[in-house]
Amino acid sequence: MTGWWKAPLPAAALAATALAAAAAHLLPGTARAADPALVERGAYLAQIMDCDGCHTPGVMSGQPDFSRRLAGGTVGFRVGDLGVFWPPNLTSDPATGLGAWSAEEITAALRTGLRPDGRELAPIMPWRSYSALTEQDMAALVAYLQSLPAVEHQVPEPHAVGAAAPLPYLDVVPPG
Ligand code: HEC
Repeated sequence: MTGWWKAPLPAAALAATALAAAAAHLLPGTARAADPALVERGAYLAQIMDCDGCHTPGVMSGQPDFSRRLAGGTVGFRVGDLGVFWPPNLTSDPATGLGAWSAEEITAALRTGLRPDGRELAPIMPWRSYSALTEQDMAALVAYLQSLPAVEHQVPEPHAVGAAAPLPYLDVVPPG
């Protein structure tokens, strides 16, 4: 058998990659506890990326409730024939927010638009733009989200177009 000696090399390379990946994944959680500067950077990013505009109650209707920051939007969006979507609760509440999501799952949603259940987020959530975040800024944003105090607030599930809506939503009406 030739080339057996090559085996340790790829294995070592894989191990190094795995270690690097593990370190990268650890970053948000570790930093959340240890690095207030990272959370502060995340708060800054969340502000200029306008997460509040959609995910904080009342912002869309001119009555922002920052005591429940990012606890879920009260105005939804109809996206073509896909459905009507309300911006979910991003606080650390485990039942109605992101409290049960890992840092990796939040990162995946922001980077690839995929929720842990495999559903792709509707394009009104600007994840395609957010996917360009650097690793460090993504870690900061996720650390900030995970630092948000838990607020219990369930937004409606996505609704089919035409179904009776429990809350208002913005619609794009074709001309004519
Ligand atoms: C233009 C409105 C809008 C903006 C701005 C916005 N979002 Fe969203 N977001 C949504 C909507 C609507 C959904 C739900 C989409 C769906 O269910 O398909 C969503 C879903 C999400 C989800 C998935 C949550 C879940 O429970 O499924 C995360 C995480 C998220 N947004 C984070 C953010 C962050 C962080 C920011 C700012 C950096 C942000 N969003 C900015 C509208 C927005």
